[in-house]
Amino acid sequence: MTDRFPDIPSPAFILEETKLQQNLERIVYVKEEANVSIILALKGFALWKSFPIIRKYIQGATASSLHEVLLCKEYMGTSAHTYASVYIPDEFEEIAKNSSHISFNSLRQYETYTHICEKYGVSIGLRINPGYSDIGTDMYNPCTPDSRLGIPAEQLPNLPKGVTGLHFHALCESNSYSLERVLESFEHKFAHILPHISWLNMGGGHLITDAEYDVEHLISVLSKFKRKHNISIILEPGGAFAWQTGVLKTRILDIVNYGSTPTALLDVSFAAHMPDTLEMPYRPHIEGASSEPKDGYIPYRLGGTTCLAGDFVDPYYFPKQLEIGESITLCDMMHYTMVKTTLFNGVQHPSIYLAHTNGYNECLRRFNYEDYKNRLS
Ligand SMILES: Cc1ncc(COP(=O)(O)O)c(C=O)c1O
Repeated sequence: MTDRFPDIPSPAFILEETKLQQNLERIVYVKEEANVSIILALKGFALWKSFPIIRKYIQGATASSLHEVLLCKEYMGTSAHTYASVYIPDEFEEIAKNSSHISFNSLRQYETYTHICEKYGVSIGLRINPGYSDIGTDMYNPCTPDSRLGIPAEQLPNLPKGVTGLHFHALCESNSYSLERVLESFEHKFAHILPHISWLNMGGGHLITDAEYDVEHLISVLSKFKRKHNISIILEPGGAFAWQTGVLKTRILDIVNYGSTPTALLDVSFAAHMPDTLEMPYRPHIEGASSEPKDGYIPYRLGGTTCLAGDFVDPYYFPKQLEIGESITLCDMMHYTMVKTTLFNGVQHPSIYLAHTNGYNECLRRFNYEDYKNRLS
């Protein structure tokens, strides 16, 4: 198969600077036209050596743990917008010191920590459940009736003292029409609170950088909402920043014929390096291959390096017989994939490269035995 990065040794995650810049330009366009804040959700993309590129366009990040707060401070150079479903008591002071906004998931958490927020001048918010989401998969739907995420409207008769904002997260790789429906429900359910807040964080899941996304519609929805309620709006997408900005380059090490379909064994693991391909399951596009049967194409399952029986993905279809040593390039492997990798089985973790716009491929990180050893004691 063709290899767009012959100089980069396999396996490697490769972030393409040009593609990241294109996404950032689109995000900045929305931010400026709609006059809203857009910050990066670190849970979706935390490759901090690329932050100097991101910081030229967007200043700020949202964090969901102390470590993300510290990463935001150190490499984004700003205090974080922080939300966690529950805060760890020993960590909260450090979080408050390094956050500009903190949202609480319950009134009990708000009561426990509000005095620390006041001490550090942090703007206090509450995460609410807007009561609507059209996310089809429950695993990613934070607005189901039994969700633990976000205070339901019935449990928030008024805005507690010192709270200046609300936060919701109700989308997942969604479009602006889904957001519009969430806002309709939110406005209806929280009409008694809306006049009293000065900011609203509309969470993540806005897939602004997808080719199909109707950016002009998003701008009009946000502008209308802002005018109507006279509040600041914050969006905190993660995936959209790194959407289709890079690949995982792999190599075929062996091909076995033990069942009905041959399996090409790669130098990466689906379980350890791309868990979403097994959990969701997410079927990444593979350069030069088809995910569906195609006339004249040959099926191969792709297997990983760990001993987990399920560390393989269902067949992809290739235009010719695969050979040992060939490259297999899995697409769109930056957002969530990279933050979720593990060192399971001690298998080699892919290195991380940044393919600069000027053609220089910079190695940002190589992993070795010490990384594996140091993780557990
Ligand atoms: C509270 C919150 N904000 C932002 C995000 C980022 O969402 P996405 O990466 O889908 O844009 C998430 C993702 O789970 C989230 O839970």
